[in-house]
Amino acid sequence: VARILITCGPTREPLDPVRYLSNSSSGRTGLLLAEEALRRGHRVDLVLGPVGLAPPAGARVIPVVTCAEMLAACREAHPRSDAVIGAAAVCDFRPRAASTEKRRRGAPWLLELVPNPDILEDLGKRKGPRVHAGFALETESEPDAAIAHAREKLEKKRLDWVVINSPEALGGEEGFYLLLGREGPARNLGRLRKSELASALLEAVENSLKRSAPEPDKSDRV
Ligand code: C5P
Repeated sequence: VARILITCGPTREPLDPVRYLSNSSSGRTGLLLAEEALRRGHRVDLVLGPVGLAPPAGARVIPVVTCAEMLAACREAHPRSDAVIGAAAVCDFRPRAASTEKRRRGAPWLLELVPNPDILEDLGKRKGPRVHAGFALETESEPDAAIAHAREKLEKKRLDWVVINSPEALGGEEGFYLLLGREGPARNLGRLRKSELASALLEAVENSLKRSAPEPDKSDRV
């Protein structure tokens, strides 16, 4: 039994008390990963952005809104986790400052956006023996270019596994997936339902966990 930290859903970055920047992530993949991990007997810490779907019963849900909150929640849960799966669609930018009052209409509004931290990259710096996995949404039509790009992400974020998906997967029930590990070529998983993808990724993470487990201590054998 492992303790698995899963990030899920979009983040929202406030512009003022009533407006925000976000994206159209449904959170479906992350929730299915949580469900599959629980089915396999693991404990799940689910750091969950604002989604319209209910999380599976049995997960420890840590609700968050912004990237900063998601990062703080992940840093808090990471030390006691054995594996991390980054399935959240984190906003890459946030407004430099959110105004405390609702902006009046009329004059144009020029927004200044600043980059958000990369949560998986941050956790990667304190990875230790943990197994880390993430997603790479690639728009290149040439598979080799998509794989090369995903491999850069794997290195930069110190991931063990990267799921490469294409934009059709967004919001839908299924997608076309490739699975890239630290060793060997990318494995073409083909067209899968998101529940099937969840099972394939959990299988890969469990295999890595078995490999990274310390050798049993034989010193007290008689
Ligand atoms: O680099 P890119 O955004 O394509 O990487 C996607 C992966 O990184 C996903 O697993 C996503 O959850 C994670 N990510 C993150 N923090 C960000 C952006 C992406 O953890 N700020």
